[in-house]
Amino acid sequence: MARLVRHDATGPIELKPQEKSAWVCACGLSQNLPLCDGSHKIAKQNDKPGKVCVYDKTRTKVIEVRDDV
Ligand code: FES
Repeated sequence: MARLVRHDATGPIELKPQEKSAWVCACGLSQNLPLCDGSHKIAKQNDKPGKVCVYDKTRTKVIEVRDDV
């Protein structure tokens, strides 16, 4: 399973020490990068073994499914 997501950030985002755990997005679909906002549930619904999902600019909709080569 893989996905293509367009990112336009060109630098790092500082995560300052937190009293509670801070969850950093690893799926690339969060609307609140670099933090997880629960959007990874979309990936769980769409990802299929052996396929690559291409997401639109909003990172909310799959616009293409390709074979993972
Ligand atoms: S890991 Fe990306 S939104 Fe949760």
